[in-house]
Amino acid sequence: MRATLLQSVFPSDSNSLGTLFAGTLVGWMDKASAYAAMRRVHGPVVTVAMEGIEFRRPIRVGELVEVDANVVRVGTSSLRVKVDVWRERLDTAGRELCVEGHFTMVAVDSDGRPTPVPPEADEA
Ligand SMILES: CC(C)(COP(=O)(O)OP(=O)(O)OC[C@H]1O[C@@H](n2cnc3c(N)ncnc32)[C@H](O)[C@@H]1OP(=O)(O)O)[C@@H](O)C(=O)NCCC(=O)NCCS
Repeated sequence: MRATLLQSVFPSDSNSLGTLFAGTLVGWMDKASAYAAMRRVHGPVVTVAMEGIEFRRPIRVGELVEVDANVVRVGTSSLRVKVDVWRERLDTAGRELCVEGHFTMVAVDSDGRPTPVPPEADEA
């Protein structure tokens, strides 16, 4: 299951070097992970862990950012989501992978307690 978030980088998203602030980007990665997991679970999820987030290339004000989240493993109540972040320059349409990481999301019930991930439609 997959979710993609597109964002353009505004000056208010940047640090003093004019590049995207890491905390803002991690928020976008967290949102995309949650959307991918919610699509799989058909219900609410919470973030329990973020691991191995590597910022390899800076992303600049004015660039377009694609945050691509894919559920790569499903446990009992948890889902592991791989997130790739691409930057795209609008003038050249050149695209580069800039950031990667893994997020673990947990399916929860209305009281916030872990609940089993349902089988996929074609597994039922
Ligand atoms: C996520 C939460 C509901 C898990 O509750 P818990 O009582 O620890 O639940 P469990 O120990 O049964 O773990 C549930 C699942 O999470 C996984 N898990 C728990 N801690 C983890 C961690 N640090 N890293 C990876 N997976 C983890 C467990 O392996 C288990 O997976 P499984 O069901 O697929 O086997 C609870 O820790 C919580 O509410 N945390 C706060 C979440 C939050 O506020 N996030 C920010 C806002 S979205």
